[in-house]
Amino acid sequence: MDHIFGIPKERAQHPIIMGVFESQTIRKHPCFRLFDADEQSFLLRAVKKDAGRTDQHTWLLVPGQRLKPVCIIGLGKKEEWSARKLILESRRFVSYLKAAHYRTACLLIDDFRVRNLSFERTAEIIATNIEMARYEFNIYKEKPQEGWHDLDAIYYDVRDASERASCSRGLAAGAIIGGQTNAARTLANTPGGIMTPKLLAKETIAMGTRCGFSVRIFGEKEMKKLGMDAILAVSKGSREEAQFIVMEYQRGPKSHKPLVFVGKGITFDSGGLHLKPSNAMDDMHLDMSGGASVIGALGAIARMGLKTHVIGIVAAVENMPSGESYRPGDIITSMSGTTIEVVSTDAEGRVTLADALWYAKRFNPKLVVDIATLTGACIIALGHHASALFSQQDAVASALLKCGEESGDYLWRMPLWEEYDCGLKGTFGDVLNAPKNREAGAINGALFLKRFAKDFPAWAHIDIASTMLSVNDIHLAKGATGSATRLLVEIARSYNL
Ligand code: BES
Ligand code: ZN
Ligand code: ZN
Repeated sequence: MDHIFGIPKERAQHPIIMGVFESQTIRKHPCFRLFDADEQSFLLRAVKKDAGRTDQHTWLLVPGQRLKPVCIIGLGKKEEWSARKLILESRRFVSYLKAAHYRTACLLIDDFRVRNLSFERTAEIIATNIEMARYEFNIYKEKPQEGWHDLDAIYYDVRDASERASCSRGLAAGAIIGGQTNAARTLANTPGGIMTPKLLAKETIAMGTRCGFSVRIFGEKEMKKLGMDAILAVSKGSREEAQFIVMEYQRGPKSHKPLVFVGKGITFDSGGLHLKPSNAMDDMHLDMSGGASVIGALGAIARMGLKTHVIGIVAAVENMPSGESYRPGDIITSMSGTTIEVVSTDAEGRVTLADALWYAKRFNPKLVVDIATLTGACIIALGHHASALFSQQDAVASALLKCGEESGDYLWRMPLWEEYDCGLKGTFGDVLNAPKNREAGAINGALFLKRFAKDFPAWAHIDIASTMLSVNDIHLAKGATGSATRLLVEIARSYNL
């Protein structure tokens, strides 16, 4: 779809989205001047007093030479308006447009302006979230006769002419960020039987060609040579060959150390020999959501032409039970030399990340961030509105928390304290892949990874199990949310330690 700056003169067929706060006078509303005198007096009569209440929306057909559709969106109290609300409201009006079968709309960015936020950023947030809200994963469904309810174009304007250029920039960035978040959602939503490690590698190459970053793929033979026995152990039970995917985007000064993003890439997590109970396996094709967010974000960073150097790493592996699976009790020598004693074959993500993180050392990174749907415990701790952030360094944690807040991929910091670090002591190997009890599951996952990240100047682990799936109140289609794609783009453009 297109995000076009400038509202067309002949706009009667495009509905106007009008954001209204509680007790806002319609006469002073930024959109009011878009109507002629008769239409204005109609609006003064027709817009109800409580139209600005949260969760309200009203469709009006303004009479005139042609009926002009207007959708009034209640934004609640003006003093409570925030970037967080802007995200949700931008998605909400898309659902109304789709339900009413409109494919275009016009809006004034002024209506939705958040205090302390530039017009550019406001425009970017609106465009990002319109993109995210229009998305549905329907490629495997028969197209209905009337076609899918989707948007073709949104036309925007701003009252202050000096803000036009900044708004256009914001819209362009938002269209890319939202579009790439949706691309990550499609990678994740594609069923495990189709999105195998091989296809994920192929799709990454295609994304690199489309967006402008380079991709290298290692098969199992090359991984064996590199000593990646931890990744290979998880892959043993599957008939699908594991793929080690390395992406690079370099537009920064040569002297700058890169950012490295590492994504968990389990294309299907059955649990392995510790087979998951049937209802716990339903969404496990989404277990490569971290990897998908890294791939999507590299595409966005490249399309935006950011002046930076970013490496993306995804170990794409399927975790299956078979006569060749890795077993509970197995002791694996990881690429680092540390031996991993397998307690649970279902704690496979961290085993693959051990080698992926170790491999990242060769890039001499300034910051490594790994993104993983690592633990069910993360969902229990946080529900569905924040991902868990772990980092030993306070400065790194606060920089990332800020990126989370600004991007809409919210983070909540959890402890990575030594006090917790006793449950992973190996009996026959150096480290257990999971503790013997279920307490502090998300923290233990992070503590396991910490051993393989010890040489990095800065490292953070983000558990996105909690935000992997869409829930009703975030106004996104069922399935993957594309969690952490927006976050990674924000880190790439603002991380400065
Ligand atoms: N992929 C799962 C975690 C998960 C569960 C993500 C539900 C999203 C939704 C992970 O590989 C896993 O199975 N973790 C185990 C770890 C345990 C065995 C230490 C878990 O959380 O139960
Ligand atoms: Zn698992
Ligand atoms: Zn998993």
